[in-house]
Amino acid sequence: MKLEIIQNQEQLYKRAVDIISNHLKNGADTFGLATGGTMLPLYENLRNSTLDFSHCQSVNLDEYVGIPKDHPESYHSYMKRQLFDAKPFKAANIPNGEAQDIQKEANAYEELLKSLTVDLQIVGVGENGHIGFNEPGTPFGSESHVVELAESTREANARFFNSIEEVPKKAITMGISTILRAKSILLIAIGEKKRFALEALLNGEITEEIPVTSLLQHQNVIVLTDLNIDDR
Ligand code: F6R
Repeated sequence: MKLEIIQNQEQLYKRAVDIISNHLKNGADTFGLATGGTMLPLYENLRNSTLDFSHCQSVNLDEYVGIPKDHPESYHSYMKRQLFDAKPFKAANIPNGEAQDIQKEANAYEELLKSLTVDLQIVGVGENGHIGFNEPGTPFGSESHVVELAESTREANARFFNSIEEVPKKAITMGISTILRAKSILLIAIGEKKRFALEALLNGEITEEIPVTSLLQHQNVIVLTDLNIDDR
């Protein structure tokens, strides 16, 4: 794992764009994408870049269940607004949270993911250490599945909705083993709220209670953070 501490956020996101750009130059054409507040400046930088993704495909980590795709806070809407309208991909895949049978949809998403190789998976991290919507306690062997969102996750995401009642209670997410199949992973962790998760990762103990520590099992992870933390 390579830790890069860049306290200037502008510089940090420029570095993230450089990493993506280098992957593109080296022939990467399949990107795993994330949503959330952390990714907003990344997508702004990508929108303003000259990078071209029109020959690429994307797979998103997750999608809420219980709100329509055209809800402004669905991850379909988020991705369209933040990236795809400005930088179209040849194919953009996001789980369908509106599927009649969401379990079947999660299984179908996993099948799709098994049919391709993600060159670079971008991930954020939750305050409780979740990656995707894999909450603490999720087995590291998990594949794409339906999750009940932790109350703390719903509270953290309430800032994007009018009230916490509006935050969906379920989601479809890539599993941890799904995420770990990517050739490379870029984790971005910004702000004090992510200190617990980041310190757990740097402490080096791999535990299902803190899903982000699963990344320690991967050979090719870059962590970008603005947190002032020792590399140990
Ligand atoms: C988003 C995702 C989540 C977020 C995490 C952090 O697709 O899978 O794991 O990355 O909840 O969210 P923010 O960036 O809003 O703090």
